[in-house]
Amino acid sequence: MNASEKIHNLAGYPPPHRLLHTAHVPGRAAYNALVAESEEDYAGYWARLAHVFVQWKTPFTRTLDSDNAPFYKWFEDGTLNVSWNCLDRQVNEGKGDKTAIVFEADDGTVTHTSYAQLLGMTCRMANALKALGVKKGDRVVIYMSMSVEGVVAMQACARIGAIHSVVFGGFSAHSLRDRIADTGAVLVVTADEQVRGGKTLPLKALVDEALSMGGCEAVRNVLVYRRTGGDIAWTARDRWMDEMASAQPDTCVPEWVGAEHPLFLLYTSGSTGKPKGVQHSSGGYLVQAAATMKWTFDIRDEDVFWCTADIGWITGHTYIAYGPLAVGATQVVFEGVPTYPDAGRFWKMIERHKVTVFYTAPTAIRSLIKAAEGDAQLHPARFDLRSLRILGSVGEPINPAAWEWYHAHVGGGRCPIVDTWWQTETGAQMITPLPGVTTLVPGSCTLPFPGIAAAIVDETGEDVPNGQSGLLVIKKPWPSMIRTIWGDDARYVASYYPPELRGYYLAGDGASRDKDTGNFTIGGRIDDVLNVSGHRMGTMEIESALVACTELVAEAAVVGRPDDTSGEAICAFVVLKGARPTGPAADKLAVQLRNWVGKEIGPIAKPRDIRFADNLPKTRSGKIMRRLLRSVAKGEAITQDVSTLENPAILAQLNETH
Ligand code: WT7
Repeated sequence: MNASEKIHNLAGYPPPHRLLHTAHVPGRAAYNALVAESEEDYAGYWARLAHVFVQWKTPFTRTLDSDNAPFYKWFEDGTLNVSWNCLDRQVNEGKGDKTAIVFEADDGTVTHTSYAQLLGMTCRMANALKALGVKKGDRVVIYMSMSVEGVVAMQACARIGAIHSVVFGGFSAHSLRDRIADTGAVLVVTADEQVRGGKTLPLKALVDEALSMGGCEAVRNVLVYRRTGGDIAWTARDRWMDEMASAQPDTCVPEWVGAEHPLFLLYTSGSTGKPKGVQHSSGGYLVQAAATMKWTFDIRDEDVFWCTADIGWITGHTYIAYGPLAVGATQVVFEGVPTYPDAGRFWKMIERHKVTVFYTAPTAIRSLIKAAEGDAQLHPARFDLRSLRILGSVGEPINPAAWEWYHAHVGGGRCPIVDTWWQTETGAQMITPLPGVTTLVPGSCTLPFPGIAAAIVDETGEDVPNGQSGLLVIKKPWPSMIRTIWGDDARYVASYYPPELRGYYLAGDGASRDKDTGNFTIGGRIDDVLNVSGHRMGTMEIESALVACTELVAEAAVVGRPDDTSGEAICAFVVLKGARPTGPAADKLAVQLRNWVGKEIGPIAKPRDIRFADNLPKTRSGKIMRRLLRSVAKGEAITQDVSTLENPAILAQLNETH
C-alpha cells in the first residue's frame, strides 16, 4: 500500500445517500438494531428471518438444537421444499412471466427463461430423475458446464429430495471418480461436451472414463444434456436429457423434506490429501442464502443480478442456483471465460444486459486490469456501465489497488463494493459490508452480517484485542453452516471444532480487526490450503497427485508463493526416482509432471513452478521444512536455521526454477 492509498483508506467510502434510507437495511442504526436483536435473542432473531425469507410447508417449533453440538440442527421439525420456494412461490406471487435467467453462451447467443418456464423445466427433469428410479436421499452427481440445464438439474434434485453433488467441469476423470465413489451416487448428470473460450472440451467422455475406474458401481444411469451435438460414445446406461424430459409432464409435486434434510454435498480441499464432502441442509441453508441475497446485494424486483461464478463452486450454488431464485430476482448466467472473445466480455455483458448488481472475484478483476492497461479498447470506460449500482467481490482478499480500480472504473465511483468473506463450509456470506450501512475500507470485508458471531481469538480461544491478528472463528452456530463431512463425522469435528477453541468454529483463516472501526481484514489461510485464482487447493492433494506418478516421482512437497494475478501460485519441489535432471531435460520433465497433475486433479491444480532436488529439506524428526520451502519459492533470502539439513547443498538446487 502506498502513502496516498493509506490516506484514502482512512477516510473510507460512506454509503451513497440514496441508500441510507431506501436500502433493505437502511443505515447504521438499522444494522445496530438487527445486531442488538440477535444478541438479545439469538434463536428468536433467526426464527424471525426464517419466516421472512422462507415459506414453510409445516412451521418449525424449535429454532436451534445444540444438544449434540457441534452437530447443530436448525428449524428441525419444519418442512419445506427448496425448489418450491425458488420457483412455484415466485409463479404464485405473479412472477411467472418475469425473466429468471438471462443466459449468454460462449459465442454470445442469448436466451431468456421465465420463472414459469424454469418451473416447467425443473418439473420435467425431476420427473425424468424419478423415472430413472432416483429417490429421496439418493445422491446425484452433476458434472456440467454453465447452462440453464445445470441450474435446472440442481433444482430438480431439490424438488424430489435427492442430494446433489456438483463437480466443477474443470476437474479430471480421476477427481470425478473419487467424488462419485465417495457420495455413492446413483446417477450422473452431464453434457456431451462443454464450450469454453471458443474451444470444445469433453465432459461425457470423462464421465465414461471415471465410471470405468471402479468404485462407482452404484451409478445406474448417465443423463446427458445435448450441448454441442458432438460425437460421443454411448452405452446402455446413457439417456439423453431432452428425450427423457420431453416425455415427462411439466408438473411435479414437490417432496416436502425436513429442514435438516441434506440439500447438497460439495467437495472442497482441506489440509489432507482427500477432499471433504461438505454437507449442507435444506432449511437453514435457504434462510441464509435468501437473507444475504436480499440484504448484502440490496436486491429489488427490477434488479439484474450477475454472479460470474461457476455452479461447480459454492458461490455458484448460493448466488446462482438458489439465492437469486429464492428472492425472485432476474439474473444473468454465462458460459465461457472472462477473456473470450476478448477481455471486454464482462463489460460488454454488463452493458448488453443492463446488469445492476455484479459479483465477481479479485483474480478476474486483476486480470482484466492488466488487459485494460494493455489495450484501451478493453477498458471499462469504453462501455456503458451506468446500469450498475452495487459491486461485489468474493473468494480471496482483494488488494486495495484492485479495489480502487474496480470502484472507480467499473463502478464509476458511485457503486458500493461488498467484499464478502465466507467459505464452502459457511454456505452463505458471513462478514460483509451492507450497501446502505457500511463505510467501506478497501481490502476489508468490514463487519459481520447481522446475527453472525465472528471473532478473532488466539490458540486457546481467548479474544485478541483489536489491532492484533489471530484466528478467525465463529462463536455461535449459524443457519447455513456445514452439518458434517459426508461419511466422516470425526473429521468434521477435528477440522472445525478443535477442543482448545471452546466450541467455536475454526474458519482456517488468519485475520485482524481494526482498532477504531472493528473492521475485519482477512490475512489468508493458516493451514496447508492454497488460494489460486480464488480456487481452494490442498497442498497435500497436489503432493499425492505428484507421487502417484510412481514411475518418476519419489517425493514431493508443494507450497504457495504470492502472485500478483492469481493471489497464490503453486510451487512444487520434486525428488525423482532417477537422477536429478538439469537444463532442457528438467524443463521437459516439468512439463510432463504438470500435465500429469492436470490429468490427476484438473488444470487448476497444475503447479506453476516445478523444481527438482536430490532430497527435500527436513528436520531431524523427518518433517518437511515447509517454511523454508516457502521462502525458497518466493526467492527470499534464507533466514531460518538450516543447521539440521541433511544436505545443505540442496538449497542451491531448490533455487533453480524451470
Ligand atoms: C476461503 C474459502 C466464499 C466462496 C468462495 C470461496 C478465502 C473467501 C474472501 C474474502 C478474503 C476470502 C478465505 C476462505 N476468502 N472470500 N472476501 N476476503 N478471503 O470459497 O473455496 O471455500 O474458500 O476463501 O481464505 O477461507 P472456498
